[in-house]
Order: sequence, then C-alpha cells, then structure tokens
Amino acid sequence: MAHILAPSLLSADFTDLRAAVALVDRSPAQWLHLDVMDGVFVPNISYGMPVIKAIRPLTRKVFDTHLMITDPDRYITAFREAGADVLTVHLEACTHLHRTVQAIKAQGMKAGVSINPHTPVQALETILPDLDLVLVMSVNPGFGGQRFIEGTYRKLDALRELRLRTGSSALIEVDGGVGTDNHRTLVAHGADVLVAGNSVFGAADPAAAIAALLA
Ligand code: DX5
Ligand code: ZN
Repeated sequence: MAHILAPSLLSADFTDLRAAVALVDRSPAQWLHLDVMDGVFVPNISYGMPVIKAIRPLTRKVFDTHLMITDPDRYITAFREAGADVLTVHLEACTHLHRTVQAIKAQGMKAGVSINPHTPVQALETILPDLDLVLVMSVNPGFGGQRFIEGTYRKLDALRELRLRTGSSALIEVDGGVGTDNHRTLVAHGADVLVAGNSVFGAADPAAAIAALLA
C-alpha cells in the first residue's frame, strides 16, 4: 500500500488558513493533520473546535485530528460535530483508554491512540485490536519544527510485530520531524501515514514538498 501523507496545519500561516487548506485540497496529500493542544498536556496552546469547524467546508480530505489534551472524553462529540474523521487521543492522557476508544467509534469516527517518545509500544498491546490508528510521536509533542528522534525506528519495528501478533489492522502514523531525509526509511520501517508540518508549510514550494514526501 502506498503511504498516506498528512500535512500538519500547525506550521501553516494562521492569517491565511483558507489558502493553506486549499493548497492541501488540490494536492495529492490524502489527509490533513490537525493538532489540538491545551497548554496542560503539552506546554503549548494551538487551536480547537471552532477553527476545525470553520475550515471543514473547504475540503473533503480526511481530518486527522490529534488531541494533545487532558481528559479528551469531554470533547469527543464536539470534535465529531466540528468535522473530525480520525480522532486520536494520547495514551498518557487517558485513565480509561478502552472506554475513550469505544466512545470515539460510537460517534462514527476512526479511533487513534498516540504514544509519546518515552512510552513503549508494548503499552498498546491490549488496546491495539480495537484501534484504527496508532500515532507514534517522533518528537516530544507541543511544537512543530523539532528534530526527529532516531529511536523511533526501533519502536516502529516493534509495533509492526505487535500489530501482527495481536491481529490488529491499525494504521501506523509517525508525527514529528518528518522530511525528505527520512520519509522513505520510515515507510520501510512500517509507517503507513506520515505527518509533515514544517517540511511542507516551511518549504519554499509546499506543493513540491508534498509531491516529494509522497514519492
Ligand atoms: C507536534 C505535532 C505535530 C507537528 C509536527 O506536537 O503533533 O503534528 O505539527 O510538526 P513537524 O512536522 O514540523 O515536526
Ligand atoms: Zn500531530
């Protein structure tokens, strides 16, 4: 299967989100990655439901929504109403992860779970068969433009094995520091979905960057 690219809006020009979404919309990138931060789970605040709702009519691309927030259960319905297609929560932010995952699916969305760089993939073992997606953070969440953590490759190898062993069909997504210097290696290590913020929106020619990251 060809990999999926999810440009991250976090690195776009916030004064012209219409143009940023239009750029992704007419590109071959399949998904749009939306980073929601609450200033508690991560040391930064980004944007939330109103922004997602505002851009929803601008494209039919999959809204890949990455919640870096504590107690995400409170907002599952609100994100569905805003237009999220995939809703990903952090394992480290959920006390009753199984319940959270079921609640996301009950709302008709695909359910994802993300793990921070320090969290071993083995922590996903029991939940993996229930998931549509696992998001492996390859930087510490909170900011765009950080350096890729090399230990991610070993986690991807272990995750691929675990997915096979548990009979899971979850997609494996990698987020943070992804660029043309590592995207092919990541796909070779089992990444199905690549998130790219700075390497797309920070590029002189974002459309060309998207094409390169899909090659
Ligand atoms: C970081 C976010 C990422 C971010 C990636 O906490 O989860 O999605 O936008 O940005 P880059 O691709 O610039 O590392
Ligand atoms: Zn993200």
